Amino acid sequence: MLQRKLSIIAPTYNEADNVLHFIERVKATLNAFDWEILFVDDNSADGTAQKIYDYAADDYRIRTIIRLEDRGLARSSIQGMLSAKGNLLCVMDADGQHDPMVLSELVARLERDNLDVVSAARRLDGRDELSGLSPLRQKISLFGNWCSSLILGRKLLDPLTGFFLIRRSTFLEVAPHLGDPGFKLLLDILYSHRNLRHGEVPFEFASRHHGESKLDCYVAWKFLTFTLSKMTGGMLPVSLISFLFVGGSGLGVHFATLYGALWLSLPFLAAQTLATLTASANNFLLNNLLTFRDRRLRGRQQIFGYLKFLGFSSIGIVANISLAKLTYEHFAHVILIATLAGLAIDSVWKFVVASRFIWK
Ligand code: GDD
Ligand code: MN
Repeated sequence: MLQRKLSIIAPTYNEADNVLHFIERVKATLNAFDWEILFVDDNSADGTAQKIYDYAADDYRIRTIIRLEDRGLARSSIQGMLSAKGNLLCVMDADGQHDPMVLSELVARLERDNLDVVSAARRLDGRDELSGLSPLRQKISLFGNWCSSLILGRKLLDPLTGFFLIRRSTFLEVAPHLGDPGFKLLLDILYSHRNLRHGEVPFEFASRHHGESKLDCYVAWKFLTFTLSKMTGGMLPVSLISFLFVGGSGLGVHFATLYGALWLSLPFLAAQTLATLTASANNFLLNNLLTFRDRRLRGRQQIFGYLKFLGFSSIGIVANISLAKLTYEHFAHVILIATLAGLAIDSVWKFVVASRFIWK
């Protein structure tokens, strides 16, 4: 029989209080394997990598990849899997929520049914007291499941789990097609290659040992835009979808400011100008935080970036105001149509400027 070489890939971000316990628990279940544990740490400030090093300096089966420039669970997992040596790769959380006892079940299932991927599915059936998820997180997860089944075209117990086993050869096949799904790597893998033989093994998702979840609004935003992008069959890229949403919020800001200013008896041109400038600021900040977060401008760079954004987009602003004014004067003074016409021409211009010249 082919020797089973199992690589455990554990992405970490500020898990110093959890990693040693994790290593001990995982090691205790690996007797039947030739194994390695590969941590992928996004340069945690709490000394996670050093803790691992101090504990396992002499054990070459335990390694840490430290990433300096980037942050993200899915991308860390991908990097770890690409660097792993095993013919079986298992991604799991290092915070104690994924029970290592499930590992041998995953392997057994993969081998018995000759599958490509086996995932460990959390039970999301409302047994709150047993689960490591808060009631709110459970609801969000169930909603996420529903979105996932829409894009996958089949229903799974838990397509969003971060605990799964995959053959190295399968992973290498799908890797070039993976995007940046934030947390949802399994879903992206299953989506990228529809014919994978996939099975699920239910397990009890435990509570975190120490520290807090890193799943924040940004991760949720990524999931939303990722799902919508997949729903368009990938025709609309994630960044464009995010940009359009931000533009939509800018529209709200624009109207609020416009009507506010008109209510304060400002002339239409002045009110429109003020509304355009306020909406630009809103859009700049949100795009910096969400759409182009991986190329995010920080500190003083933000001020320069915004000035640059205004400078470049002044052409768009002039076009916006002129077109709005023209439309306003020629279409029976309908503010809505005038504003929409102005914003449409402005948005196209801003997207070009944003992706080419600001967040390069
Ligand atoms: N390298 C790296 N970079 N690791 C990260 C990052 C990151 O940006 N964010 C989180 N991690 C690591 C954590 O240190 C932990 O080991 C593991 O990834 C899971 O992160 P948590 O922050 O604990 O995630 P969670 O428990 O809220 O989410 C779990 O459920 C999700 C589904 O709802 C995870 O299993 C996810 O993978 C899963 O998608
Ligand atoms: Mn967790």
